Amino acid sequence: MDSLTSSIMPPAGSTISGEVDALFSFILYTSTAILALVTGAIIFFVIKYRRRGDAVRTSGVDHNLALEITWTVLPLILIVIVFVWGFETFVRMHIVPANAMEIKVTAQQWFWSFEYPNGATSVNDLVVPVDQPIKLLMSSRDVIHSFFVPDFRTKMDVLPNRYSIAWFEATRAGEYVLFCTEFCGKGHSKMTGKVTVLSDSAYNVWLEEGSGQAQGESLADYGGRLFTERACITCHRLDGKADIGPSLAGLFGKTEVLEDGSSIEVDENYLRESLLEPSAKVTAGFKPIMPTYQGILKDRDIDALIEFMKSLEKN
Ligand code: CUA
Repeated sequence: MDSLTSSIMPPAGSTISGEVDALFSFILYTSTAILALVTGAIIFFVIKYRRRGDAVRTSGVDHNLALEITWTVLPLILIVIVFVWGFETFVRMHIVPANAMEIKVTAQQWFWSFEYPNGATSVNDLVVPVDQPIKLLMSSRDVIHSFFVPDFRTKMDVLPNRYSIAWFEATRAGEYVLFCTEFCGKGHSKMTGKVTVLSDSAYNVWLEEGSGQAQGESLADYGGRLFTERACITCHRLDGKADIGPSLAGLFGKTEVLEDGSSIEVDENYLRESLLEPSAKVTAGFKPIMPTYQGILKDRDIDALIEFMKSLEKN
């Protein structure tokens, strides 16, 4: 890739990036050349044929067949090149290689969750091995989201009620930014994550261990880590201030007023139900928009989150 394009585009991190950037460069350079040519010609002719006085007559020439054909055929050739080249790249971007590893992607307001072939899950952190085609089987639980990793030149809408498919093959280990690039409500700007590309061996270690409780880590500390890693942090604050959802500080043991006017004491069972069936008992003043964590959190994770909430000071 030339230096101008590489200064405009994000670093290339996938097998398709080079092709996308080459086409982008071609369009950029030919457009710039045509712009310069047309603008230059306009300025040249405006000066050369400016009105010099009342006596000067307008030229009688009103047609030039060779010129007409030239400026019709040349752009046509350019457009055909861009179409064929673009179509080839488009097809390669959309036909998933047969040996691709399939990862299930679920988008919802406002986080991403990923499910791996062995049943492991992660939230807002897609972990993949390097030099391996990855097929993403994507769906949304609510509105339209869009999966976008600029460094991979991978972007695909994620829709409710049907699957959309994208694929990429990362060429370097490292961390890459993942955006939701379809406006999906209040938390849209917070719906970011990352793609972690690991070496084959590191990936296998990660799969084995998952992101479970580390050795020597207390249950409350693990819960605190889940609070961030499982994206609770997108909607809940820990400082007593309400966000999209209620603050979790001092919540445990408190008596909460619900939407229907009844009240409930916040205990372990209420917290568990609120994680798995969030719209069952919604706190007054909040909308029933929290997604269910059914299938995303294991029992141990739920225990840890409850332990973490118990440990939070009242504010
Ligand atoms: Cu999801 Cu924007």
